[in-house]
Amino acid sequence: MSSHESSSGPAVTAIVLAAGAGTRMRSELPKVLHEIAGRPLVGHALAAVAGLGAARTVAVIGHGREEVSAAITAIDPGVVQVVQTEQRGTGHAVKVALEALDAPPAGTVVVTYGDVPLLTGATLHDLVETHRGAGRAVTILSAELRDPTGYGRIVRDAEGRVQAIREHRDASDDELRIREINSGVLAVDAGFLLRAVASLRDDNTQGELYLTDIVAHAVREQLPVGAHVLEDVWQTEGVNDRVQLAQLGRVLNDRLVEHWMRQGVTVVDPATTWIDSAVELAPDVTLLPGTQLLGATDVATGATIGPDTTLRNVEVGTTASVVRTHGSDSVIGAGATVGPFAYLRPGTLLDAGGKIGTFVETKNAHIGPGAKVPHLSYVGDAEIGEGANIGAGTITANYDGVAKHRTTVGKHARTGSDNVFVAPVTIGDGAYTAAGTTVRDDVPAGALAIGEGRQRMIDGWVEAKRPGTSSAEASRRSRETRE
Ligand code: UD1
Ligand code: CA
Repeated sequence: MSSHESSSGPAVTAIVLAAGAGTRMRSELPKVLHEIAGRPLVGHALAAVAGLGAARTVAVIGHGREEVSAAITAIDPGVVQVVQTEQRGTGHAVKVALEALDAPPAGTVVVTYGDVPLLTGATLHDLVETHRGAGRAVTILSAELRDPTGYGRIVRDAEGRVQAIREHRDASDDELRIREINSGVLAVDAGFLLRAVASLRDDNTQGELYLTDIVAHAVREQLPVGAHVLEDVWQTEGVNDRVQLAQLGRVLNDRLVEHWMRQGVTVVDPATTWIDSAVELAPDVTLLPGTQLLGATDVATGATIGPDTTLRNVEVGTTASVVRTHGSDSVIGAGATVGPFAYLRPGTLLDAGGKIGTFVETKNAHIGPGAKVPHLSYVGDAEIGEGANIGAGTITANYDGVAKHRTTVGKHARTGSDNVFVAPVTIGDGAYTAAGTTVRDDVPAGALAIGEGRQRMIDGWVEAKRPGTSSAEASRRSRETRE
């Protein structure tokens, strides 16, 4: 199989139109770079096209071209990018795309949009198969909408044969009643497309070159034309404003959550569970209400996440438990426990069986196998050895105002409550530190470090200095019972 053949047959060339302004987003960010499910709209479009196994993919860009171009290159550097400097219509955009190819396309050309994020690779694949099977010049991906306002309508003759696509603005009253719409996605015979695009004219209400006019052109040439009607209308929906962005984001999330439930993930509350498209989940993962799994998060079997937990780019090991936690760019080992109320900042590596407990913040910290940081602590730029236990209320003083320094705690060390580790500092294997110690000097293996000044007592101070208070009264009663 040559690189110019897809797995399913002869060559496919894909064209993704993404030059439009997206004015209704009212955004500094180009429309196709707005995200749903953690991926820009154009990323969803390219993911669908990737499922097609196209020999060549051309993206037509225009508005916000620098940013859009950089994003496309990051997603797939193999995509041919061409700039359409003036948006003179979908037909013009396709013309520009065809001119950008080093050789004219053969086989089938698929045209799709950068702002239609729910369209799947499987749908594009079916479209191409239907198109080829019927030996057509053009196959339109169409859908029946309850409200077709704004869309181009599929005009059919009395026998139901497709005759033309009529734009909403150019449609007659009768045509406006048609509920079958053009999604904008088309499969076209390459030879016919080259010919048809060259003959497009801008004699319409918008003075644009309409790609859709190629349908009537094919009918005039008596070439077979048809529509592939999609039942799943969400796949044809485009994003024009932020209301649609949120609606499609919600629908895509519902689909991702359903996908994972069918793969064996328990999702207690689908409505409050958000899963980005790049997330990977193993069977028998349990997601409790209010969980957001973002970026490249990967959760292994038997782990339980939530409730109310947000993880971005976090790897979670088998049977780990992560409760009411906010974490990013971190690794949680097998059987480890995190939370409730933990904050894992980038570079946290919690080994198997370890614990990051309640009101604990970690950053750039390696916590060894079975080691525990159970309560009220900040552990940053630190190496905590296997089986060590960090006392409640411990702070690594890692920042001297200019530079960051590391703290190392040895294996099976036991550090007391309310310690400050003034980095750089090392506590040796098996060492202990007393409660309230500020550790400024290295502690040798097996030693006990005691840092605090001794406590002293001033007898009778409360009754002398705070007479008449409830404390003084309690003191007096206690004294009288003793006497
Ligand atoms: C287009 C179709 C319409 C269809 C609708 C579906 C035409 C003439 N009309 O209308 O039949 O029902 O989509 O949403 O094709 N673009 C460019 N360069 C341009 C013009 C557009 O790249 O010069 C891109 C846009 O960024 C967008 C897509 O093509 O991604 C569609 O353009 P848009 O202006 O939204 O077309 P509609 O008027 O909605
Ligand atoms: Ca549109």
